[in-house]
Amino acid sequence: MSTSPAVESAAAPARVVVLVSGSGTNLQALLDAAIDPAYGAAIVAVGADRDGIEGLARADRSSVPTFVAKLKDYSSRDAWDGALADRVAAFEPDLVVLAGFMKLVGPAFLARFAGKVVNTHPALCPSFPGTAGPADALAYGVKVTGATLFVVDAGVDTGPIVAQTVVPVEDDDDVSALHERIKVAERQMLVDNVGRLAREGFRITDRKVRFGL
Ligand code: GAR
Repeated sequence: MSTSPAVESAAAPARVVVLVSGSGTNLQALLDAAIDPAYGAAIVAVGADRDGIEGLARADRSSVPTFVAKLKDYSSRDAWDGALADRVAAFEPDLVVLAGFMKLVGPAFLARFAGKVVNTHPALCPSFPGTAGPADALAYGVKVTGATLFVVDAGVDTGPIVAQTVVPVEDDDDVSALHERIKVAERQMLVDNVGRLAREGFRITDRKVRFGL
């Protein structure tokens, strides 16, 4: 499989839409990085699947436009997926970053932004997919875990891997302590790699993601 690059022009910063569902610390790391024009990416909008979350407040404080598309406001999951795609498309993104977005995007969304959607997951894919990566890793008893940035496909955390970062699991960890350790490494991975995707573009061949056009 090959895909088009995230960014078609090296001159302008890549337009990035970020989707969140919660506290938005990964979003904040991107907002902070994007202040520097040399980063090569501009966060042009933040979307969410729910109101009243700190992620949206973080966008507001950075004067970044926000929107909310709640699943329950639509007649079906497909209708929600199409509406979400419309809301995102209005901002003409070069790249869509799912940063703690706790819903699966569907076929309409992926068709609209083919090869331009990346997700950060708090586990080392293909281990521990889904919404409880840190808890599942802890329960399994692994000695290392981490975070994965991948290009979203139709599966659950199955897409081609852009980057991974590893953290140790400590004997006295609970889920919260482990997830917080993961998130420190995850934010750095996300900032480093979204910047590279924006500045350099990327291509995918046989699941291998490579930077550059
Ligand atoms: C992050 O650890 C992210 O990987 C995870 O939610 C957290 C959001 O933190 N996402 C998933 O588990 C998706 N399956 P944040 O809101 O502070 O950025």
